[in-house]
Amino acid sequence: MKLSQFFLPVLKEDPSEAQIVSHRLMLRAGMIRQTSAGIYAWLPLGLKVLRRIEQIVREEQNRAGAIEMLMPTIQSADLWRESGRYEDYGKEMLRITDRHERDMLFGPTNEEMITDIFRNTVRSYRDLPRNLYHIQWKFRDEIRPRFGVMRGREFLMKDAYSFDLDAAGARRSYNAMFIAYLRTFARMGLKAIPMAADTGPIGGDLSHEFIILAETGESEVFCHADTLARDWAAENIDYASDLQPLVDGMTALYAATDEKHDAARYAAEVPEDKRCNARGIEVGHIFYFGTKYSAAMNAKVTGPDGNLITVEMGSYGIGVSRLVAGIIEASHDDNGIIWPASVAPFDIGLINLKAGDALVDAACTDLYARLCAAGKDVLYDDSDERAGGKFATMDLIGLPWQAIIGPKGVKNGVVELKNRATGERQELGMDAALKLLVG
Ligand SMILES: Nc1ncnc2c1ncn2[C@@H]1O[C@H](COP(=O)(O)OP(=O)(O)O)[C@@H](O)[C@H]1O
Ligand SMILES: [Mg+2]
Repeated sequence: MKLSQFFLPVLKEDPSEAQIVSHRLMLRAGMIRQTSAGIYAWLPLGLKVLRRIEQIVREEQNRAGAIEMLMPTIQSADLWRESGRYEDYGKEMLRITDRHERDMLFGPTNEEMITDIFRNTVRSYRDLPRNLYHIQWKFRDEIRPRFGVMRGREFLMKDAYSFDLDAAGARRSYNAMFIAYLRTFARMGLKAIPMAADTGPIGGDLSHEFIILAETGESEVFCHADTLARDWAAENIDYASDLQPLVDGMTALYAATDEKHDAARYAAEVPEDKRCNARGIEVGHIFYFGTKYSAAMNAKVTGPDGNLITVEMGSYGIGVSRLVAGIIEASHDDNGIIWPASVAPFDIGLINLKAGDALVDAACTDLYARLCAAGKDVLYDDSDERAGGKFATMDLIGLPWQAIIGPKGVKNGVVELKNRATGERQELGMDAALKLLVG
């Protein structure tokens, strides 16, 4: 993509409405614009990151055996009256009346809808277990939307729903999501810690929040350092095997947010050199709630002996749009964002230091074409802005690599490569540069 043809409205000044660094940087880097309180348009650069995160979530859900579908954003109030949540949800629910005076709502979550689909479709124990998910926009009329897409009113969530015959099966489904979450966040360069959590309005008795560490996170976190030790992205998980020992290994270690923190237990259970006090952001939340919805909504299947069985359910959320901000909170410096390669909007930023100079233009065009041919996604700054401005923009938008070509380099037959994360610079011949960038 040539910058001269792209849509990248960067801001030179810090926007006054942004209180946290990710919000500031997302606005400055031209990723989002607010259209109403807590509601954002995703500009091209922001959308590219959102899609990459979504894709990692999707791949790990699929790997763990969940099946993708897509449910609508608008739901009928009647379903929510069946579960009893229509009243319970209160003002957070955006209620809509259609032209026939029917009560509708913009879905804040989909337990009722998936339970309805399930009960109308699945009849036999033979069709279980199943875990169905979708990645869809949600609306929650938060009292105080803040911090940009971190706490929005409209936000993108992955939500999965598992159906099992009995509690043991539900536990297996829960464990698969538990491990899939660890892999998902690790692939985005994040350290996520599962923490025992309250189940809130979703209900049920087993629940974990997944918290990523970031200096600017909303809640304070206390954990055993070994919860961070393992690189889950590198683990080859066999989802058909018993995952309980892996889950037990993680949940046995102390980890709590300030709300649930028990200083005495922390002191007793965690050796001093293993104590990790940090700040964190909730990026995922999983629940096992048994028959809460299936009983209320009559979701049953026939068992092997012909008796009706009320199915056991769980639900599993990931804040896809919140993750965009969460990753920035965890990975930035004074100059801007530092994207992990796995979610970066482009792989490489190519900077032409003297657009209009025939030799420099030719060298840039050649490298651009070769990188694209090798499957790299390149943002080519072919504009005639001055060098300082180009460097600042590239640092701000945080692409993993910068390739810089100017008259001097062309004369010497070299390109300068800058690694955004380390700041390291090196001059290489074109072929060597290409080799390093393509890997
Ligand atoms: N207002 C919001 N803006 C952005 N993401 C949100 C918002 N509310 C929830 N999420 C994301 O969706 C995930 C699942 O939501 P859930 O746990 O049901 O909500 P909550 O923790 O707010 O009760 C959360 O872990 C979080 O990552
Ligand atoms: Mg939650």
